[in-house]
Amino acid sequence: MCGIVGYTGPREAYPIIIKGLKRLEYRGYDSTGVALQNGGIKVYKKKGKVAELEDTIVGKNLHANVGIGHTRWATHGEPSDRNAHPHQSASGKLAMIHNGIIENYSQLKNELLKKGYTFKSDTDTEVLLNFIEEIKTNNNCSLEEAVRVALKRVTGAYVILLLDAEEPETIIAARKGSPLVIGVGKGEHFLGSDASPMLEYTKEVVYVNDYELAIIKPDELILKNLGNEKITPYIQKLDLELAAIEKGGYEHFMLKEIFEQPQTIYDCLRGRLDAEAGTITMSGIEQYANQIKNARRIVMIACGTSWHAGLVAEYVIEELCRLNVEVEYASEFRYRNPVIDEGDIIVAISQSGETADTLVAIETAKSKGAIILGVVNVVGSSIARASHGGAYTHAGPEIGVASTKAFTAQLAVLTMIALKIANIKGTISHERYMLLLKELNEVPEKVAWVLKNADKVKKLAEKYKDADDFLYLARGYNFPVALEGALKLKEISYIHAEGYPAAEMKHGPIALVDETLPVVFIATKDAYHEKVVSNMQEIKARKGKVISVITEGDDLSTSLSDDVMIIPEADEIVAPIISVVPLQLLAYYIGVARGCDVDKPRNLAKSVTVE
Ligand code: AGP
Ligand code: GLU
Repeated sequence: MCGIVGYTGPREAYPIIIKGLKRLEYRGYDSTGVALQNGGIKVYKKKGKVAELEDTIVGKNLHANVGIGHTRWATHGEPSDRNAHPHQSASGKLAMIHNGIIENYSQLKNELLKKGYTFKSDTDTEVLLNFIEEIKTNNNCSLEEAVRVALKRVTGAYVILLLDAEEPETIIAARKGSPLVIGVGKGEHFLGSDASPMLEYTKEVVYVNDYELAIIKPDELILKNLGNEKITPYIQKLDLELAAIEKGGYEHFMLKEIFEQPQTIYDCLRGRLDAEAGTITMSGIEQYANQIKNARRIVMIACGTSWHAGLVAEYVIEELCRLNVEVEYASEFRYRNPVIDEGDIIVAISQSGETADTLVAIETAKSKGAIILGVVNVVGSSIARASHGGAYTHAGPEIGVASTKAFTAQLAVLTMIALKIANIKGTISHERYMLLLKELNEVPEKVAWVLKNADKVKKLAEKYKDADDFLYLARGYNFPVALEGALKLKEISYIHAEGYPAAEMKHGPIALVDETLPVVFIATKDAYHEKVVSNMQEIKARKGKVISVITEGDDLSTSLSDDVMIIPEADEIVAPIISVVPLQLLAYYIGVARGCDVDKPRNLAKSVTVE
């Protein structure tokens, strides 16, 4: 995720670009920059918000009629001035901004290094830019042709906007996997990650498709495919307002982020999981693989939803890797005198990478000789930088205070780590390993399947929105999902909810059950299913209302439930990534039905950076 803006036409480009970038900041920013055609290409960029960039360049000669701008959501190279976009090519004649990930950038970089190229940044973007320039110089061809040739070699996702000092009126753009909108004006053109930068100037837009390349001048828009064949631009009338665009047409960021999960889980797996080849590539884990497989124990440290991800990982890693796993609340861990030995593996799980308790807890563990692996969403965040290694979740910016897509991305990363270590240790058969890779690979489409039935969950929310209490019950891998479902409901709708191991009910909590109490079971088909069904019968016998998350075709659980939310068949190891989605939807729709501010619930902050 990041924001891109471009303009070519008779107006002053800079004001259009800087205002457009501010509208795109919801897409994530850790650094920003602009490039302007002004007697050669002038680049201004820095770490921080758009407003900070604006302050540093006020008073400079920012006159230009053509320019591009970028808000970065780092994937390769931590947030810094030098890693900010736009990047300039070795010759300085080209400038480029990029949204996405170039998966084979290290291979391209090695080829360029052998040809004597040097790099000013750590980004994959600068590699692609110099690769394009190398082709342009080597083949003595146009920039447009060089882009076409280069993109045929690239694997990954991109939207790129390019300026060429030798073609000051032209912007070249191309996309695959990241969004690009071109606004068509009279003698001018606008570009953006979405339509928000161009709304007040034109309502006529062209949505560029994958593998398309655009050559844009003030009064000309040429669209081609990578085979150099012209495509007629399909101009559409825009009828969205600004607020709606930022949320992608969804009513709230939380709903948008729930529905982004097929894509964000795919993004998390992409370039790492190859189910065909049977490989999992995670350099930040590989370099510690020996220490992990020989570790006395693994300690998961996190808070809130991230702590629930750690609990799921405990079940998965113990089952697959036969390693002792402990899961600690960061706040508890840091204040007691924990026993940490040299070589213990600490996995710090955090969406924001800034949670104070988690940060201090890992610093404590590090001081005692532990190895810290971060599973973090925000690149270059404090917890990421305090870690020795780890893997980013690549879920993109999570704006809704209630964590949804970050949680499923955390589970995807933690499951890949477990599978990688189990394969190295030989604690699972090759057949089971390959089967689980396939299962994990299929999770994005299974989540998409669940989301297609969101309206059924919305109806459930209407039915149960006035309850005063909820219980969430499950066993095994789904037990932490019960805790997560309860937390989602609490923080979004302010209804009291508790998650519990289903078997634990008879040790007290079953006294709560009566005809007013909705009890949500995660009862997907797994080794615990039969026992969970018995627990459902216990609740029914006491007139509790049973709402169940079940596997498609499970008639028994259906017969015992007042209402069901269905997920497709999935192996128990990956089922939590899917079974949590109906619970996210249930919490969201109940919160909306109760008139709660679901993106900014009362008393909560997105990142708890205070102790
Ligand atoms: C989850 O919905 C909450 N917003 C909260 O529990 C959150 O998971 C917790 O504060 C940890 O945040 P982190 O993942 O950014 O460290
Ligand atoms: N992969 C590029 C980088 O890390 C672009 C990231 C983005 O989409 O902002 O700089």
